[in-house]
Amino acid sequence: MKISFIGAGYVGLVSGVALAHLGHEVTCIDVDEDKINKLKKLEPPIYEKGLPELLKKYGNSKNLQFASKYDENLTEAECLFITVGTPEKEDGDADLKFIFSAIENSIKYISESCIVVLKSTVPPGTCSKVREFLRDMGKNIEIVSNPEFLREGTALSDFLEPDRIVVGAQSSRAFEIMEDVYKPFVKQKVPIIKTDTTTSELIKYASNSFLANKIAFINEMSDLCEKLGADVKTLANGMGTDKRIGRDFLNAGPGFGGSCFPKDIKALKQLTKKVESDFLILDAIIKANDNRPSNIVDKLLTIFNNDFKGKVISLWGLTYKAGTDDIRNSPAIKLVKILKEKGTKIVAYDPKAICKTNEHLATLNRAETAIESTKGADCIIIATEWEEFTQINFSEIKKLVKTPIIFDLRNILDGKEIKSYGFQYYSLGSIQY
Ligand code: UGA
Repeated sequence: MKISFIGAGYVGLVSGVALAHLGHEVTCIDVDEDKINKLKKLEPPIYEKGLPELLKKYGNSKNLQFASKYDENLTEAECLFITVGTPEKEDGDADLKFIFSAIENSIKYISESCIVVLKSTVPPGTCSKVREFLRDMGKNIEIVSNPEFLREGTALSDFLEPDRIVVGAQSSRAFEIMEDVYKPFVKQKVPIIKTDTTTSELIKYASNSFLANKIAFINEMSDLCEKLGADVKTLANGMGTDKRIGRDFLNAGPGFGGSCFPKDIKALKQLTKKVESDFLILDAIIKANDNRPSNIVDKLLTIFNNDFKGKVISLWGLTYKAGTDDIRNSPAIKLVKILKEKGTKIVAYDPKAICKTNEHLATLNRAETAIESTKGADCIIIATEWEEFTQINFSEIKKLVKTPIIFDLRNILDGKEIKSYGFQYYSLGSIQY
């Protein structure tokens, strides 16, 4: 099947490559010529596990083409996926200008039998608005909603091993085309949730908000564990083994970040305001997560007897989670900002983070290795759960640091073992601060 994508960002590129892998003839279009030139040279513009291999395998073949112009690259498409960004406006609303410009610029090239599929995360009602917009232009094209559920770092396997596929559409023809797109999954009996476009759009916001809710809940629970002398990891196992709850997304940490949860929750909040619906839980999730970094710095202050003067912090991890080079809304960056304001000196290490454009990180001292970052440090803070941090030689580090303190914000180390090297070890949700 001939499929085109507009927007070769993280979602468009991963989905395009994955659909090429499923046997479709895919063209990824992006107005960013630098990105397209890189892709034509089979260089992935993002760090994502498995992407370089699949790009090499299918790129520039009949299964996967890249283009920076709309024109003839669209005329034969049977299905056009829109995968452009929907950034956050100042008031928290989702900005749909890229969606509308992508549609406006492509619509004159596609045939009326081609369906347009919104894969970007868009507020409920967007497909209806696009439908009206096209009707005003005299076009009768079916608009479909098919939200993505891809996590950075595991996006390809999330795409290729889906829990479910959600499709919102109006006609049986559109549902049939979408079943053709995902034929191998239909054969594997992956549930296909067929609904109207508004419900489909809302499913995406509901899923992200619910997951963010789980994280905010376990983080608050972790604070309570500290007060009561309980252990949050065991608590998460105890709760999470109940199938109705599930163990995933119950890892306490420095708060959720990234380009999705914070933005989507605020966009949903804006939407509830517009339709005058109280959605009190959303306020609590936003507040709990916003407070998390300063709450963590308070714990650190307690460890340092309320005195940060002249302290040197070795910060391990800058990305918002492991497996990505993305630092958007990273809790580590919020910590950097607060800790700098409080007068500490920070030496950071991250194996992948790209920080040039971030005001708080552009001038940050960065070490080449985790070990190097610890020279003369008063404390090591683990902000991201990179696997390599669990493989470090801590007896070597003990000789380099000024004060042997580790504050593990991802609960990834074995406290007993770390203490055996002579460190004071602090984690979240098991120690009283
Ligand atoms: C999230 C969703 O998981 C995807 O399903 C969705 O498609 C995507 O947003 C999107 O809307 O595009 P992503 O932001 O890549 O994916 O990352 P997650 O793995 O969901 O993690 C989000 C944040 O929650 C990270 O900061 C992570 O460290 C934090 N987290 C996650 C925790 O603090 N504890 C957990 O137990 C799990």
